[in-house]
Amino acid sequence: MASPHRRRLRPALVFTAVGVLVCAGCVRPAGGARTEEPNKVTVACGATEEWCAAMTAAFTAKTGIAAEFVRLSSGEAQARILAARDNPEFDVWHGGPADGYAAAVGHGLLERYVSPNAADIPARYKDADGRWTGVYVGVLGFCDNTRVLGEKRVQAPRSWQSLLDPALKQNVGIAHPVTSGTAYTALWTQVTLNGGAADAALRYMKQLHPNVLQYSKSGAAPAQQVARGEIGVGVVFSHDCVATREQGFTDLTVTFPTEGTGYEVGGVALIKGGPSPAAAKKYIDWALTPAAQEIGPTVRSYQAPTNPKAKRSDKAVDLSAVKLIDYDAAAAGALKSDLIRRFDAEVAQAPKS
Ligand code: G6P
Repeated sequence: MASPHRRRLRPALVFTAVGVLVCAGCVRPAGGARTEEPNKVTVACGATEEWCAAMTAAFTAKTGIAAEFVRLSSGEAQARILAARDNPEFDVWHGGPADGYAAAVGHGLLERYVSPNAADIPARYKDADGRWTGVYVGVLGFCDNTRVLGEKRVQAPRSWQSLLDPALKQNVGIAHPVTSGTAYTALWTQVTLNGGAADAALRYMKQLHPNVLQYSKSGAAPAQQVARGEIGVGVVFSHDCVATREQGFTDLTVTFPTEGTGYEVGGVALIKGGPSPAAAKKYIDWALTPAAQEIGPTVRSYQAPTNPKAKRSDKAVDLSAVKLIDYDAAAAGALKSDLIRRFDAEVAQAPKS
């Protein structure tokens, strides 16, 4: 039997009293002609592939609305949404740090949508203007391979400063902030720890540069490199290290920097001008529910939920036990394009001494 949502979204062709064929339940795109809204939502998905697959499948099971996704790192998602702004391919952006969403707001790519379910989400986890709402929280940390570090006689780092230890030369993994939201969280963490000074943050990254083996595209990739023993330490969201350890890599441990660390609020947002706005709003409503936010741990995604009514996995980081910096996603988003451009030119392309 068709679900109520399916019925609501399926437009009907009807004749009016004067014999004109009209389309009830249709939407009018910017170009003017009426077209049928597909009973389908297309998601730019910023968390792990498994999380994206589980989320979209559960949404379809719940509503009967088809859901497709493309897994994209934060910068890739923003670039793709920007490139297609005149004919958007996605309806919803789901997952990935909120500062990427804030940057997209700056380009006018996100439509304001305050879901009725957003009332359950604390103010610190949503955009004051309703352009994005938080669905999870992840904390940046170090993913250490104790065996590799033991062979080098280096302690697992417990501070950003100790990550600069020359003994870790070519032994640190971190993604590139042009593509990765994880890596941008690390960069903005340095800005914040330096009182807002971008120059000081880039100076830190330049000092770290000789220790970095390579800048990966996606944020979680260094956890895999650490697991394989290619490097001793990865700068990743701590839950990505926990998930990798669960795959049988028992040499992995998580440490957090004593100076304080950054965190992400993973977002969900309505993309302006997407093909299925009604289905997209249903998706966003659903993504904020406790049921949706309890799916992550079933696929080893141990971010903390933003909905206080959702059950928190005991494998999720205890946010009150880690020294967190005051991470301002709106400010981070506003400066993102400038900072990542500078990182690429001044850090990533610098020779390694
Ligand atoms: C992983 C984490 C997510 C995070 C995402 C960011 O999937 O589990 O919590 O939001 O990385 O991805 P990116 O590739 O943009 O760093």
